[in-house]
Amino acid sequence: MEQTFNEQLKTYQQAAEDYLSRCFTDETLPQQTLFEAMRYSLLAGGKRIRPVLVLEFCRLCGGDWHKALDFAAALEMIHTYSLIHDDLPCMDNDDYRRGRLTNHKVFGEAQAVLAGDGLLTAAFSTAAGADALPETIAAVVKTLADCAGPLGMVGGQVLDMEGEQTQLDAQGLLDIHRRKTGALIVAACTLGVLAARGTQAQLDAARQYAEALGLAFQIKDDMLDETGDAAKLGKAVHMDGNKTTFVTLYGLEACEGYLQQENAKALAALEAFEDRAFLTELTKRLASRDH
Ligand code: IPE
Ligand code: IPE
Ligand code: MG
Ligand code: MG
Ligand code: MG
Repeated sequence: MEQTFNEQLKTYQQAAEDYLSRCFTDETLPQQTLFEAMRYSLLAGGKRIRPVLVLEFCRLCGGDWHKALDFAAALEMIHTYSLIHDDLPCMDNDDYRRGRLTNHKVFGEAQAVLAGDGLLTAAFSTAAGADALPETIAAVVKTLADCAGPLGMVGGQVLDMEGEQTQLDAQGLLDIHRRKTGALIVAACTLGVLAARGTQAQLDAARQYAEALGLAFQIKDDMLDETGDAAKLGKAVHMDGNKTTFVTLYGLEACEGYLQQENAKALAALEAFEDRAFLTELTKRLASRDH
């Protein structure tokens, strides 16, 4: 089982990596510095969790996962853009990401903003150009926009920033995390079901799973900021500063309990899917990850 899981994970990650490594490579165009900045962050070796979720949900719902690669890559472009902007001095002001200097540290702030803009817009071009039915593409593009935009990740980032000025309660923190991190995880699982032309019941179950996983994922991210190892994480620790996080609100021990509770919810949602061994293992590993 372990071997099968590792192999499948690697296959998905490699397929996403290969796809992304072919993007923004046209050497005949003049905007080479922009391409370089975009590729610098895109190919810096993230965990590729969101693409993996897209591909596995497609397979799980009876689709050919190779056909979901355009959607998986589009989502990873949006995620990468969100990280480039999240690291900017006007936001979290971070120097390291994915094991290397942050984008603005290497290319300057203006280029970093534009590299993010480039990845965000290219994502929609990538999704729209996929070899899929027009109605599938329309649904995917709408999901991406809803999850990434003001109702989703961008909205969450604003609440996160505003939250630095106030003492948040549990509900306030949930409002942030559902959007800033949860929304792109929901997008990942939804895109996979859409690519496979899955049923409404599958879409509902995928969303339930993703909402719980997304919350668990950010709780763990907050815990790793406190307890993690920068070298393993590829980003600096103790950077959450004055922010209210799950750790500052509940303490590490209660956080672990909360994390396990959300993971159990995620695993329960998976019961809607017969062939759930891979996702079950992935869910467990994400809860005990060290990076
Ligand atoms: C980091 O996301 C930012 C959060 C939403 C918590 P990941 O932990 O998925 O980062 P990469 O893609 O592996 O670098
Ligand atoms: C970032 O959350 C989420 C997004 C980029 C939308 P964090 O600010 O906690 O992510 P890290 O810790 O910098 O990766
Ligand atoms: Mg942030
Ligand atoms: Mg950050
Ligand atoms: Mg963090």
